[in-house]
Amino acid sequence: MNTSTHERTAVVTGASSGIGEATARQLAAAGFHVVIGARRVDRLAALAAEIGASFAPLDVTDQDSVDAFCATVERCDVLVNNAGGASGVDPVATADLDRWQWMYDVNVLGVARMTKALLPKMIASGDGHVVLVGSIAGVEAYPGGAGYNAAKFGINAVRQVLRKELVGQPVRVTEIAPGLVETEFSNVRFDGDADKADAVYTGMTPLTADDIAETILWCIQRPSHVNIDELGVRPRAQAAAIADQREGIRLSIVGVNGQQVNEDGVPYMECDAWTSKTWRFLMQYFAELNGVSNEDLKNGVRGSAMITRTSASGSNNGEAQGDE
Ligand SMILES: NC(=O)c1ccc[n+]([C@@H]2O[C@H](COP(=O)([O-])OP(=O)(O)OC[C@H]3O[C@@H](n4cnc5c(N)ncnc54)[C@H](OP(=O)(O)O)[C@@H]3O)[C@@H](O)[C@H]2O)c1
Repeated sequence: MNTSTHERTAVVTGASSGIGEATARQLAAAGFHVVIGARRVDRLAALAAEIGASFAPLDVTDQDSVDAFCATVERCDVLVNNAGGASGVDPVATADLDRWQWMYDVNVLGVARMTKALLPKMIASGDGHVVLVGSIAGVEAYPGGAGYNAAKFGINAVRQVLRKELVGQPVRVTEIAPGLVETEFSNVRFDGDADKADAVYTGMTPLTADDIAETILWCIQRPSHVNIDELGVRPRAQAAAIADQREGIRLSIVGVNGQQVNEDGVPYMECDAWTSKTWRFLMQYFAELNGVSNEDLKNGVRGSAMITRTSASGSNNGEAQGDE
């Protein structure tokens, strides 16, 4: 590894795409020697060549992989615990526990493994910094999010504990909690279903990976005595985890418990306008949350749940096929 003892070193996990990749680029541009890790090594190699970083394969869910990766890190001033993600939007009632297990392993245990391994080096640096990439899902629960919520709420807890445990040590602890960022995140969450992934960002301007990378860099570049504890960053159009204002789309899903109901007690949601892609996605999402079968969905969801569409041409309550 080509680090000099004078060069500040930043380790970024999950740097093969999205926020991690953008953070690695910005840290390198700011003068850090960057060590990047992820499972897709071909991508790491290309990025490392471009920004002059070191890289090694890393699976944060595997202790041997973490040990081998960390053995290549001579010095560590900053650790950006970014590797993570969500899997599925299943309600608790039909939760796929393998997905939950993966989300806990990658988002929580991965952070614990990496932090445990590199904390002594950060303390030894005299000016260390642990950054955790949490999520709006770690401060606000939403229907269909429980597995991911539990993991990211876990990160929020780990950050609070770490911050208290490290008082008196020369190490800062920061949690960044982004809202919607357009990366490969939704592609992973929906098992590669591009339609569902695209629909997440339809009709609004999401954050970019660079927006979050800049925020991370800003936190790191504050003077050493300044600790940004937690920082929520959301698109202007996103006021809450699943209450966002989209161009032409007003999405308001309250979910199984505490959901919106009409005067007949039928759960409903409202949208102003949409593309057929968004329409399909919202219907499926809402139907999943409310236990509406595919058959009901094909026949229109009136009676089991109601989707209300309002548009310039008026409203067509429950006409599920109307926009297809
Ligand atoms: N996008 C959003 O809307 C959003 C919002 C809030 C928080 N976040 C959080 O931001 C972080 C980055 O996500 P992103 O949006 O940039 O999504 P992304 O583009 O899917 O990036 C996820 C990164 O994590 C890496 N990764 C996944 N599993 C890993 C493992 N076992 N070991 C090592 N690396 C692993 C992936 O690399 P490999 O597949 O190559 O291993 C990839 O580089 C995650 O913690 C996510 O939960 C995202």
